[in-house]
Amino acid sequence: MKKILVTGGLGFIGSHTVVELQNEGFEVVIIDNLSNSSEEVLGGIVAITGKKPIFEKMDLRDKASVTAFFAKHSDLEGVIHFAASKAVGESVENPLLYYENNLGVLVYILQELQKKGNANFIFSSSCTVYGQADEMPITESAPVKAAESPYGNTKQVGEEIIKDTCKVNPQLAAIALRYFNPVGAHPTVEIGELPIGVPQNLLPFITQTGIGLREQLSVFGDDYPTEDGTCIRDYIHVVDVAKAHVSALQRLLTGENQSNYEVFNLGTGKGSSVLEVIQSFERVSGEKLNYRIAPRREGDVIQAYADTQKANEVLGWKAASSLDDAVKSAWEWEQKIRKADKEPSV
Ligand SMILES: NC(=O)c1ccc[n+]([C@@H]2O[C@H](COP(=O)([O-])OP(=O)(O)OC[C@H]3O[C@@H](n4cnc5c(N)ncnc54)[C@H](O)[C@@H]3O)[C@@H](O)[C@H]2O)c1
Repeated sequence: MKKILVTGGLGFIGSHTVVELQNEGFEVVIIDNLSNSSEEVLGGIVAITGKKPIFEKMDLRDKASVTAFFAKHSDLEGVIHFAASKAVGESVENPLLYYENNLGVLVYILQELQKKGNANFIFSSSCTVYGQADEMPITESAPVKAAESPYGNTKQVGEEIIKDTCKVNPQLAAIALRYFNPVGAHPTVEIGELPIGVPQNLLPFITQTGIGLREQLSVFGDDYPTEDGTCIRDYIHVVDVAKAHVSALQRLLTGENQSNYEVFNLGTGKGSSVLEVIQSFERVSGEKLNYRIAPRREGDVIQAYADTQKANEVLGWKAASSLDDAVKSAWEWEQKIRKADKEPSV
């Protein structure tokens, strides 16, 4: 069995990827410091796959621990690096936390992989690197625009750090995956998204409003130059995102990669407006959502959706789920976790 390290493997996208890796017969080692997740996620992974991944609770900012980990697990065949801080607003307030956690840690891991010689590395990047792209759908060759936040900057600089490192280490192979908007939960509802505090993203805000945790959803702007006036994004089911990581990893393990640093968009190729996501929620839940139109919010791009041709043809991967599938799974997950909250503890 090939052993793969998944950093941040108890988080939202990481946990779904661990499931897909285990389903494909990989042995998974997770590192997570639980800063934005819980050890209970391990139970969800076991319930789905019947297998418990190795879990090391560790803060990757501790360089000595990272070095000791790689010495102990010298048989690793690949690293999928999800661990990062991801709250855009917080990154504006505390940029050094973001530069340390998202870039310092990346450097530590690459230093270990450089020492190792042959190594395969997959990085969580983001469509935020494109900013407001001039053309839709967005291809991988669209220019990278000045970042709007320290968080966005960590993804751009992160890609540069990996590219520069690969240039001088031909035995290191890396793929950066630029996610559009991952949403939803595993269809078993054993794992899903656990936003701490007020959700930053649209769908968790919608489901929390639907369940009564938030009073009302604000739709920021309905006067954008789009069909219904609201912003457009490419919402992709988290299980599809997870499966793309397995495809990318297989590509590196089989040496099919054309260069030792490649970039792929992960999206569905279909843009959905905020109002369309609300309609999807109302359709799959049978509930009316309490929302209001609010003024535009600073920093929001008007529209962003992926050109998926490269990922479809080169990775041999394609998003399979619809927006309704993703919204339905997110709603079922929300209902499950809120019900658990209300159950008396014994
Ligand atoms: N969710 C999105 O919409 C989205 C979009 C684009 C890119 N990304 C990127 O994808 C990756 C995963 O995102 P996610 O939504 O699953 O986030 P998440 O917060 O759910 O998962 C990240 C995990 O990393 C862990 N972690 C953070 N810092 C750590 C550290 N120093 N040491 C050990 N563990 C640490 C957290 O506890 C958490 O479990 C991140 O790099 C994020 O920036 C996410």
